[in-house]
Amino acid sequence: MKINELLGTEFPIIQGGMANIATGAFAAAVSNAGALGLIGSGGMDAETLRKEIRTAKASTDKPFGVNLMLMNPHIDELAKVVVEEGVKVVTTGAGNPGKYVPAWKEAGIKVFPVVAAPILAKRLERYEVDGFIAEGTESGGHVGEMTTMALVPQVVDAVSVPVIAAGGIADGRQLAAAFALGKSRRKETLPVEPGEGIRYVVPQSLTPGEEGVLSFRVSKPCGAVVYRVRAGEQVLRQVRRPRAVPGEMERILLSRELTAHVRAPIRIEMEVAK
Ligand SMILES: Cc1cc2nc3c(=O)[nH]c(=O)nc-3n(C[C@H](O)[C@H](O)[C@H](O)COP(=O)(O)O)c2cc1C
Repeated sequence: MKINELLGTEFPIIQGGMANIATGAFAAAVSNAGALGLIGSGGMDAETLRKEIRTAKASTDKPFGVNLMLMNPHIDELAKVVVEEGVKVVTTGAGNPGKYVPAWKEAGIKVFPVVAAPILAKRLERYEVDGFIAEGTESGGHVGEMTTMALVPQVVDAVSVPVIAAGGIADGRQLAAAFALGKSRRKETLPVEPGEGIRYVVPQSLTPGEEGVLSFRVSKPCGAVVYRVRAGEQVLRQVRRPRAVPGEMERILLSRELTAHVRAPIRIEMEVAK
């Protein structure tokens, strides 16, 4: 899936979340222009962020997001505000957002951590984030030491989710290079049609020792759902979602360690609460 399809925007471009600059009105203007606007919450407390989110909501009907700077002293409250205000996309800067990601995913928020090294991306992929922003040292954010040109291909190779390039991209030539370096599609796409039943099983094509992401959409709305990835009787992964939204992409990551000793075919079982 292309990034703009994933984000619901016209263009595959995300505005940088700039602390003390990117207000709700700023983000809404970017979203109205067809990219994804981001509120830069770096210098904000919880009530300021809430106000800016409401300003953005009043100024655009297009998707916008919030950048959460993890070194912000109010970060615990800000992490809750994005859930309470129904924000659709969160990007994070300056650290490891792992402890917040499960609550954001539970709320249906699309999460894109900014990373400056492949190792952090690898570590965070287990939280089923929706993609990474690989940002080189050319960026205004001063995130790390690797350049965009060196960093982005390494992150692409390290993870299975989409990777967005950032840092030093200012004109059309650099944009073209970013498209060549980044990654918009996943390794595995699997159609799932759950039908009327409460259980659904599909065969899977991952082979033992292979790493991959099972990506699929459900065709019918339903309440709480548990996806179980099995190899024979062995449950490799179990993921609970509060609801299944038709058409929305579901993803389950299977690491190399998980599939290494599997001997039976891998399949997904979907159990829907009655
Ligand atoms: C003034 C300014 C403030 C920024 N503040 C943040 C921030 O609070 N959080 C963050 O994740 N990135 C921040 N960034 C980085 C941007 O979001 C963006 O990723 C980066 O600027 C992209 O690189 P480029 O400026 O070379 O295009 C900031 C950048 C600038 C220029």
